[in-house]
Amino acid sequence: MTAARVRVSLRRESEDRSYDILIRRGALEELGAGNISLPPGSSYSIVTDSNVARLHGRRLKGALSKQYHEVDLVVFPAGEATKSLETASNVATRLNELSVDRNGVILTLGGGVVGDLAGFVASVYKRGIRYVQLPTTLLAMVDSSIGGKTGVDTPWGKNQLGTFHQPELVIADPDVLKTLPPQEMYNGLAEIVKCAIIADPAMFVRLRDLTKFDAETLSGFIVNACRIKARVVSTDEREANLRTVLNFGHTVGHAIERSSDYQLAHGACVFLGMLAESWIARHLGLLAESDFKEITELLQRLSGAAARPESLNPDMLVAYARADKKALSSTLRMSLPSKVGMMHSTRDGSFMVPVPQETFRHSIQYLKDVLS
Ligand code: GLY
Repeated sequence: MTAARVRVSLRRESEDRSYDILIRRGALEELGAGNISLPPGSSYSIVTDSNVARLHGRRLKGALSKQYHEVDLVVFPAGEATKSLETASNVATRLNELSVDRNGVILTLGGGVVGDLAGFVASVYKRGIRYVQLPTTLLAMVDSSIGGKTGVDTPWGKNQLGTFHQPELVIADPDVLKTLPPQEMYNGLAEIVKCAIIADPAMFVRLRDLTKFDAETLSGFIVNACRIKARVVSTDEREANLRTVLNFGHTVGHAIERSSDYQLAHGACVFLGMLAESWIARHLGLLAESDFKEITELLQRLSGAAARPESLNPDMLVAYARADKKALSSTLRMSLPSKVGMMHSTRDGSFMVPVPQETFRHSIQYLKDVLS
């Protein structure tokens, strides 16, 4: 059975904010049974959404109440629409009503929305309290629960208010994925494929043979993806350079997602984004034809892509990509692969490559051809 402890190493001169990611089937049950310890705290507040509260939250609260004093469940309505400052304020108000003090610990139980929002609350509540991530979706297990990015959406964009606030511990239980809708699986799979392309040729080969999505198979991929993300975050916590490799596929992907008015699933957009950005890497002479072919074959096989070609408007997508917070200036910059398992770095060591807008537009035409 797959079980692993992956370390995010954040030891700096004056402080050590390192933490573990524990990946183990049955980990949530073990946590409830007291076999996995939480950091010491004056109280434990499980923050979750209405769906996850029903599936896991109430049971976890009942089990933890036998191990610890002061365990509470704070529930907010499910859905991306609730990832707002208003919900964050409501959660903080509830924590205050529960007399959570600066030694209280938040347990974020859920997918990316819950982790980002509850992590954000943890970072600002009484100027910051500790939290533990308990991700329940594949996307949250391999990506959003690791690395300390927190945030809420605003009327002018996604994740526009946020902080870096690292958790004390991440506990991922692949058994909870049994209740996950297939669409959610693709959201996480896109990030796993991304990890393989940016840093793990062996995982890339194993993904080629992936046909079943059972908890045991997924556990192995989750461990690999977490190792990669932990290594990147340990080197570059604040996304000064190396961490930008994790944005592979996301510049074009986010633009497509926004242009669909968020009707297309995030994972499907990231798959399309990786296709387009691989085309750009090949067009700029960074990626050999043979690797381009291998990458795009895998992406097309696993993507379950759902966009209509006529919905992809190159001018609109360029405008959205430029507006995205990841485009630091009017020049588009992207992290691009140089071969399977490796990202291109420029002569001065930067992982951000300038991409002419015309090249970006051509990559959208390539996508349209692939989709039609
Ligand atoms: N999801 C990309 C990052 O955490 O940097």
